[in-house]
Amino acid sequence: MKKVALATLAFPFLLTPAFAFDVAKNKAKNTLPYEVKTQEFRLPAGIDENGIIDEAKLGDSPYAKTVIYGSKLVNETTRHLGPQAKDEKKRFAGNNLSCSSCHANGGVVPNQSPFVGIYARFPQYNSRADQLITLQDRINGCFQRSMSGKPIPANSKEMRAIMTYMQWLSTGYEVGAKVKGQGIPKAEFINRAGDPKNGKKIYADKCASCHGENGEGVLNPEFASGGDYYLFPAIWGKDSYNTGAGMYRLIKAAQFVKTTMPKGDATLSWEDAYDVSAFMNSQERPVKPNREKDFPDLDIKPMDMDVGPYNDGFDENAHRYGPFKPMLKK
Ligand code: HEC
Ligand code: HEC
Repeated sequence: MKKVALATLAFPFLLTPAFAFDVAKNKAKNTLPYEVKTQEFRLPAGIDENGIIDEAKLGDSPYAKTVIYGSKLVNETTRHLGPQAKDEKKRFAGNNLSCSSCHANGGVVPNQSPFVGIYARFPQYNSRADQLITLQDRINGCFQRSMSGKPIPANSKEMRAIMTYMQWLSTGYEVGAKVKGQGIPKAEFINRAGDPKNGKKIYADKCASCHGENGEGVLNPEFASGGDYYLFPAIWGKDSYNTGAGMYRLIKAAQFVKTTMPKGDATLSWEDAYDVSAFMNSQERPVKPNREKDFPDLDIKPMDMDVGPYNDGFDENAHRYGPFKPMLKK
């Protein structure tokens, strides 16, 4: 196994299969029919960088109230739309995370997949569906995968509120505009596979103090009187994101961890970020069925999808841990 991987790195042109990840095709499918501007990251008046809304500044119009409700839904998702919701019919999320567990502070932190400007970028082409999707579809993607639950109705009061909050955070952005700090910064590829064994050591050293020895997180003891359910969210186990989530894919997880974790001291090397993510995603978590149907266009199926089919000759283990460089079409 190892020998093959090394040889592939040494002679990428000889051994790269013809149908590896097609960067050009991916770019073409994501192209917009106009010139895309890049706009500065900026928050509207009335919200600070912790995502806290000054309600007095917004006033009490129906619009302002809907923005405020939307902010509550993304910051304390489980209280309103998850297992902790009083109304059983509103328990859409399957775990006790909140959107803020990943989109920090209600989606106002640059480089941590913020919601600023997002309303102007949808509808957009989505490679997982190989279709155009709406912002509601994208939100429900996270409900079904990151939140390991069910979609919320597209016309519900709750979806309207989340949309309104995102639209408010997007005030002043032009249709299709890019925003500095949108998404998660691109990953670098390392020259070997991610190594869960080394990752286990890094986890004990750099992550367990907050996320717990068994990835179970730390609960907020004051949840009953307000705030989010977790002080530090669960990162594996039954209360975590499922195997269909972006965070379950190695490159995406390494990108996130390298940029943001350990929280307040994100100084891991790329090697360590891949290794600790490989460890985290080797632990048990809820399983999303039918993942072989995700990314139907195999030419642009992400390299870190660990469920086939593939058309590039690499197996599931290679797609799960890498190395990824040999899978890039030159
Ligand atoms: C376990 C982590 C996690 C949780 C929890 C989560 N998401 Fe996400 N979300 C992601 C990741 C990862 C992406 C993809 C980011 C990227 O590739 O740039 C994403 C992308 C998105 C996007 C598209 C962002 C963009 O810039 O195109 C939206 C909208 C979104 N999530 C909404 C939500 C909402 C609403 C919730 C709560 C109901 C939620 N997410 C919960 C991890 C999470
Ligand atoms: C000082 C505390 C702290 C440390 C140490 C820490 N995290 Fe986190 N982590 C957080 C907080 C808080 C969040 C919630 C999002 C945010 O506020 O940025 C989070 C969110 C996450 C998430 C997404 C949410 C989820 O539940 O899936 C992952 C994945 C994650 N951390 C992985 C790690 C890894 C891997 C390490 C070690 C390299 C680490 N973290 C170290 C505090 C910490």
